[in-house]
Amino acid sequence: MEAIVSVEDLSFSYGNTFKLNSISLNVEAGTVLTLLGPNGCGKTTLLKCINALLKPERGKVIINGKNAYELKRWELARLVGYVPQAHVPPFPFSTLDLVLMGRTAHLDFFQQPSKLDRQIAERALSMVGLSHLSHRPYDQLSGGERQLALIARAIAQEPRLLLLDEPTAHLDFKNQFLVLGMVRRIARENGIGVVMSLHDPNQAIMFSDSVALMKNGSLFAVGPPHSVITRERIEAVYEIGVRVVNHTDGSFIMPSMENFS
Ligand SMILES: Nc1ncnc2c1ncn2[C@@H]1O[C@H](COP(=O)(O)OP(=O)(O)OP(=O)(O)O)[C@@H](O)[C@H]1O
Ligand SMILES: [Mg+2]
Repeated sequence: MEAIVSVEDLSFSYGNTFKLNSISLNVEAGTVLTLLGPNGCGKTTLLKCINALLKPERGKVIINGKNAYELKRWELARLVGYVPQAHVPPFPFSTLDLVLMGRTAHLDFFQQPSKLDRQIAERALSMVGLSHLSHRPYDQLSGGERQLALIARAIAQEPRLLLLDEPTAHLDFKNQFLVLGMVRRIARENGIGVVMSLHDPNQAIMFSDSVALMKNGSLFAVGPPHSVITRERIEAVYEIGVRVVNHTDGSFIMPSMENFS
């Protein structure tokens, strides 16, 4: 199978405070890889290294056969859609204009978005269920609506690789599952590779083709969700007692209530 992104022996450090240690990963076309691990383990840092926002001290990132650190910003923007964890709304643009900005990667410098670009942006907004807000100023949206709009912008970009940093963080109970289902469907239907970070092991089980479990800047385990997310590993990584609950839909992880008594 074709690898959309390969991370090869990547190491990065912020001075001497934190280090990502020799990370190697592959994401194939049409599949979703989830980064799972405690706060501060390095998920956002790794996503930024993959997107060449941070430059590692060692190792490579190959996106669609090209070395990410040798690509120009506009070349990367055609290949990679990135939805960051925290986003400050910078301008009073309409929501549709924000999504339309995803198309700029495909336009020449002075070129105006075409009718087709508008249709692509409108379709992306409708996919995330925000058509009714398309003319509302983006900075007036709720936290979850903003997150959905940013995901729509990344979809409108039509990237080969989609990087999503905690895409469910501000979403309600239903929208979390809708968005994760949509991301997986878009990946499969369009042969896109997805790398996303999540905090819920059960969502990782339900919506990923592979899981990279991280601890202290290192890969603790990587592989198919059920082989990575075991009671022993989750207990070791999160330092909390858990139990596995078997259900007709699969096996899921619950914290043991003894942790809290
Ligand atoms: N610019 C920076 N300079 C120095 N240290 C940083 C910087 N950004 C992040 N760190 C540290 O690097 C470590 C990894 O941070 P990172 O944001 O990658 O974690 P994370 O896994 O995404 O966590 P979370 O689940 O809380 O989002 C943390 O200890 C953090 O404090
Ligand atoms: Mg993070």
